[in-house]
Amino acid sequence: MIRMELGKNSYNIEIERGHLAKAGELLNLNRKVMIITDEGVPSTYAETIAQQCKKAYIKVVSQGEQSKSLRTAEEILTEMLEAQFSRKDCVVAVGGGVVGDLGGFVASLYMRGVDFYNVPTTVLSQVDSSIGGKTAVNLAGIKNIIGAFYQPKAVLIDPDTLNSLPERQIVNGLFEAIKMGATSDKELFDLFLNDDWKKHLDLIIEKALLVKKHVVEQDEKESHLRKILNYGHTIGHGFESAAHGRYLHGECVALGMLYMSSEEVQEQLCEIYEKLGFELPEFYTFDLEEVKEAITHDKKANGQSCSIVYVSEIGHGSIEEWSMDEVLDRLECNEDEEYIW
Ligand SMILES: NC(=O)c1ccc[n+]([C@@H]2O[C@H](COP(=O)([O-])OP(=O)(O)OC[C@H]3O[C@@H](n4cnc5c(N)ncnc54)[C@H](O)[C@@H]3O)[C@@H](O)[C@H]2O)c1
Repeated sequence: MIRMELGKNSYNIEIERGHLAKAGELLNLNRKVMIITDEGVPSTYAETIAQQCKKAYIKVVSQGEQSKSLRTAEEILTEMLEAQFSRKDCVVAVGGGVVGDLGGFVASLYMRGVDFYNVPTTVLSQVDSSIGGKTAVNLAGIKNIIGAFYQPKAVLIDPDTLNSLPERQIVNGLFEAIKMGATSDKELFDLFLNDDWKKHLDLIIEKALLVKKHVVEQDEKESHLRKILNYGHTIGHGFESAAHGRYLHGECVALGMLYMSSEEVQEQLCEIYEKLGFELPEFYTFDLEEVKEAITHDKKANGQSCSIVYVSEIGHGSIEEWSMDEVLDRLECNEDEEYIW
């Protein structure tokens, strides 16, 4: 168990194989519970939680980003109202970052906030998105633009749920753990570089969570230090936008990290990507102008400068202010090579 220390918003992160079946002991489910899951998550996970609730309602949303919408949130809020949920009832998200972000958002709104529990079932959500309290939906094609900081009452992580997760999704989430290792924990990074990550998945989850816990405890609302979690994300978001769904978020972060690292770190990252079976895209895969436009658009609010995270040495990421031109110049460094990196 890891304790997230955030004053009155503190909570436990319970990590153990088989925990899903013990949810009733670890969470207060002795009330009305709105369980939010999606079509891609094996239904047994939500059902296992439901069996341990006093009165459970299961809401299955479509899989994918389109469910992170005001429309879906309204649907769920309406169902809670119709089922006469009170201020003392709760919401549980069972799935990846999509239902986690949506569930937290809904919980933050109903009667100005009801208890929220997160039961993440993807690597990405287990190592990253389930803790930290960022909830959101998308609007007008802009990701995570509507939301609140709203901490869960507890997070329940059962690594056994990853047994059903496709390999590509597993690797996608591991990139976020590699990110945390690269900026803040060399031992975590070395589990990928010098060892077989498959033997250490539980340890990887725990170590990544400890990095995030440390960062969030010091900077809950992202005024400075929390930006360290954005390593690879500035350029990564540009690739994600220009990929039009062909590459997953973590894969784009993996590319983004390469552009914000010293040569030595780049070599180590590439070695890890090869071990994970992640093939770097060929250069023509992306329209570079589109990537640049997305990066510039993303950072418009900050004028011509932007905070980036640069890793010159593993375990020592630094938050730096770069001009937009400096960021965009990084993309030029390999333009005549066959591969994106
Ligand atoms: N709140 C935060 O701090 C934060 C941080 C990072 C990312 N995010 C958000 O997280 C989302 C991405 O999360 P994700 O990568 O988990 O994607 P996701 O929630 O879309 O899950 C990926 C896919 O895996 C399926 N799935 C989930 N669990 C499964 C299981 N155990 N077995 C089989 N299939 C399963 C889902 O149905 C989905 O199709 C994005 O919306 C992103 O904005 C939030």
